[in-house]
Amino acid sequence: MILVTGGAGFIGSNFVLDWLAQSDEKILNLDKLTYAGNLKNLSSLEKDSRHVFVLGDIGDIKLVSRLLVQYQPRAIINFAAESHVDRSIHGPEDFIQTNILGTFRLLEAARAYWNKLEVHEKQNFRFLHISTDEVYGSLTQIEPAFTEEHRYEPNSPYSASKASSDHLVRAYHHTYGLPVLTTNCSNNYGPFQFPEKLIPLMIVNALAGKPLPVYGDGLQIRDWLYVVDHCSAIRRVLEAGKPGETYNVGGWNEKPNIEIVQTICNLLEELYPGSTFHHLITYVKDRPGHDRRYAINAMKIERELNWKPAETFETGIRKTIQWYLNNQQWIADVQTGTYREWIEKNYAGLQ
Ligand code: NAD
Ligand code: TYD
Repeated sequence: MILVTGGAGFIGSNFVLDWLAQSDEKILNLDKLTYAGNLKNLSSLEKDSRHVFVLGDIGDIKLVSRLLVQYQPRAIINFAAESHVDRSIHGPEDFIQTNILGTFRLLEAARAYWNKLEVHEKQNFRFLHISTDEVYGSLTQIEPAFTEEHRYEPNSPYSASKASSDHLVRAYHHTYGLPVLTTNCSNNYGPFQFPEKLIPLMIVNALAGKPLPVYGDGLQIRDWLYVVDHCSAIRRVLEAGKPGETYNVGGWNEKPNIEIVQTICNLLEELYPGSTFHHLITYVKDRPGHDRRYAINAMKIERELNWKPAETFETGIRKTIQWYLNNQQWIADVQTGTYREWIEKNYAGLQ
């Protein structure tokens, strides 16, 4: 079996569902169920014995060590993290705890377990760390996209904490020989994304007739990767990636934020003829330290592992909007009191 951490979050739950749709290899899912973790994402697996859920913290070294001995996974895929830049600006502490200390303790538990494996299992074991393109910092309009050689220059508490965890993962390979792999991917979007991030927030607000808050001039650029494509890249890296290597994963979809918001409005107007959404677009105060542009050069994973994204932004965004339209109860369930408190804190006075 494999151990997945953070498997009740956005990318983790997509990964768990995608994995079990293609394989009968069991998944042990360790998740702390923070505000971002949601077992409803995995409700289709309720009676599926291939999925074992454990409520817990990656930083709980006793628990993780016990689980490793008990379940003997052949790989660990570490999705667990605090993942939202705006929250890291309001309160960095949780990011340091989970992304840095949590990853460190997970690595320690993995190292102790791996050391005791038989030669063959030891060789085949993998620790796959899921990271972000944000560790590379910000690009100008004309600079080339990030390659794996780009220097680390994180600008937010979130990206600094992820950069730190990437360095620890690298060091565990270099120092102890732990067979690690790291993927640095661009902005994901798709089903089950918590509506604090750009795309689901805009869809959910538009459907509720609320303002669509665009930070600053809206011309910041991100590369967008459909989450199911990300899942296939992770499976490929786990299967064929070279221990100690890092792989950039991107969708070849660089877009300014305002274009994303306009596309969502256009598609909603197509789906609801007679309704208008563009008038909801509202420019608000910029995010402090806002990175201007991220762009991924995903040639290495294409060349070495023969992986390419299957979706274009145009196909992926249609599927995503349709998913949110079909899952209004999911939206209602995640918009609890704590969600409303967050919206009030980050967008004070807007709605
Ligand atoms: P998410 O915030 O939706 O989910 C994170 C999950 O981790 C949640 O289920 C949460 O309960 C769990 N978790 C948090 N702290 C934990 C802890 N201490 N122990 C165990 N579980 C814990 O995040 P996501 O968007 O699914 O991102 C997954 C990973 O991918 C993260 O490492 C993130 O940095 C990385 N990433 C995300 C994106 C993106 O666009 N979403 C882009 C690049 C990289
Ligand atoms: P986000 O989804 O938070 O991802 P990240 O900051 O990790 O890239 O934001 C994507 C882009 O959208 C980023 O440039 C910030 C911008 N943004 C807005 O303009 N308004 C919003 O309400 C949010 C949440 C994000």
